[in-house]
Amino acid sequence: MAIFIDTGNINDIKKYLDFGILRGVTTNPTILLKSGIKGGMEGVKKACIDIAKLIHPLPLSVELTTNDADKMIAQAIEFSRWADNVNIKVTIHGPNGELDNLRIIHELETTHNIRVNVTAMMSAQQCFLAALAGATYVSLFCGRINNMGYNSIDEVRKLRRLLDLHHLKAKIICASTREVLNVVEWLDAGGDIVTVVPNLLEGMIVHPYSKETVKMFLDDAEKLQKQL
Ligand code: E4P
Repeated sequence: MAIFIDTGNINDIKKYLDFGILRGVTTNPTILLKSGIKGGMEGVKKACIDIAKLIHPLPLSVELTTNDADKMIAQAIEFSRWADNVNIKVTIHGPNGELDNLRIIHELETTHNIRVNVTAMMSAQQCFLAALAGATYVSLFCGRINNMGYNSIDEVRKLRRLLDLHHLKAKIICASTREVLNVVEWLDAGGDIVTVVPNLLEGMIVHPYSKETVKMFLDDAEKLQKQL
């Protein structure tokens, strides 16, 4: 597992997929909007099918666009039929704390055999309940936790212990990456996956001292070739 990419930009996905470092893709309505996807829900469908095909059999998370309890199951079924590697993202509760979501998450996993990624969670306790409900993935918004002045690493560690202690199968996705350092620190704290925005992946790879060292090797290789 380890690294997912958090984008709807197919060129970025292709680029990092070719590096062999990706194990999945996550999106949400905000990400798709920022990625410039047009054409309403037909456009979203096309973009998601294209991504799912490109990364198959790796998982793609697609978030529901409604919090109307009567429509969520039908929409989840519809999205999950776009491709067999599409997982459905469902927020832990509605915008006003509506509690139907956990019931829906449980039903999608147990009755409809749909893999659910429970999202928008800010604490280990929310993730723990989502895992008990049967979620395949629990997304902890670590960057937002840090932004609120709490230590996301403590929440990741606590959640890791809870899931292991209670033999829960949910995979922890650490989300809301803000800094290059987040990736390794959250994996080290016990996250199964960090979903990373593309520019931070580049930041993980390129190091000024590596540049200098590579330059030295290449300069000396040139001198070596001229050496008689
Ligand atoms: C990933 O699954 C989340 O949707 C994403 O990381 C949220 O990031 P944000 O806090 O930058 O919106």
